[in-house]
Amino acid sequence: MSAAAPEITIDRHAGGAADMGEEVREGLTRRPLKELPPKLFYDARGSELFDQITAQPEYYPARAERSILNRCSPEIVALSGADELVELGSGVASKTRALLYAMAGAGVLDRYVPFDIDLSVVEACATELTEVLPGMRVHGVVGDFGRDLDRLPDGDHRLIAFLGGTVGNLYPDERAAFLARVREQMGPSDHLLVGMDLVKDRALLEAAYNDAVGVTAAFNLNVLKAVNEGLGADFDLDAYEHVAFFDPEAARIEMRLRSLRDQNVSVPGAGLEVDLAEGEEIRTEISSKFTQERIESELGAAGLELTRLFCDDEGLFSLALAAPAS
Ligand code: SAH
Ligand code: AVI
Repeated sequence: MSAAAPEITIDRHAGGAADMGEEVREGLTRRPLKELPPKLFYDARGSELFDQITAQPEYYPARAERSILNRCSPEIVALSGADELVELGSGVASKTRALLYAMAGAGVLDRYVPFDIDLSVVEACATELTEVLPGMRVHGVVGDFGRDLDRLPDGDHRLIAFLGGTVGNLYPDERAAFLARVREQMGPSDHLLVGMDLVKDRALLEAAYNDAVGVTAAFNLNVLKAVNEGLGADFDLDAYEHVAFFDPEAARIEMRLRSLRDQNVSVPGAGLEVDLAEGEEIRTEISSKFTQERIESELGAAGLELTRLFCDDEGLFSLALAAPAS
């Protein structure tokens, strides 16, 4: 008798980056610093480049978070009492396996809900993970976690994971609004597991965003390719260089693209002609770094109470498990 087909559904209705033209227009007309939203990095090529970043020796966040998950997943699963894993910004979900295996090992794994703006990763991880965990149901959602959280299927006893430090890519006001919206979606038996990178030595931080082989630079430039493809723009990728630096006051890395000459760019899908001067920069991402106090206070402000904070042995990265405050 052949095995039953895996139960996979994918909700494409939320439709990824639907407001691209408007968001790009808003960002590229901003003064004094032009900006592009970091979610635009992640077309299929951008997701692939991010996956390559996670394998770079300088990029400690992925290595540190993986070591926490490999060591602590059984404890996280037991503390959460979850039988369903919802993952926001799931990407290729390679670190997620430790959590899923811990749930399967405890005999409590029912459903995995990967939620990502990039359809290619949601499809790929649904297929790959049901191959290794055949009894698990998958309900993928393709959408923007800044806008489409209401497309998450109902559930209780859910562990809502937001790994990688992606929460640090949101500006403080966006992050507060996002955490509050996640809290609204949570019932009393749900938990949130959020990866937050920690403040540390500047040299270590800057090396992680300036890897020697240039994968992060290629990832950064990919945002221009995505705008060219999505909005018919004519950015010349050879006319920009990758810049990444730590701002200690704001406790964040900033990634930018610096124009190598005076140039004019046409972005028809945003109804825009943009002038860039030689040396002018476009901010493409912030990546905030946290202290334990700030993690607790930001979660608290969203109505979430820290259950436990997990750290790797080197104290580089943290995973906060939180529940709705009582
Ligand atoms: N969680 C994975 C991937 C992190 S990369 C890891 O830890 O390795 C960030 C992921 O978030 C990418 O897969 C990207 O497509 C997704 N993402 C970024 N902005 C998003 C948004 N606004 N809505 C939904 N997904 C988003
Ligand atoms: C997805 N996010 C947490 C990464 C980060 O470190 O902020 C994205 C990234 N940007 C450059 N390298 C990795």
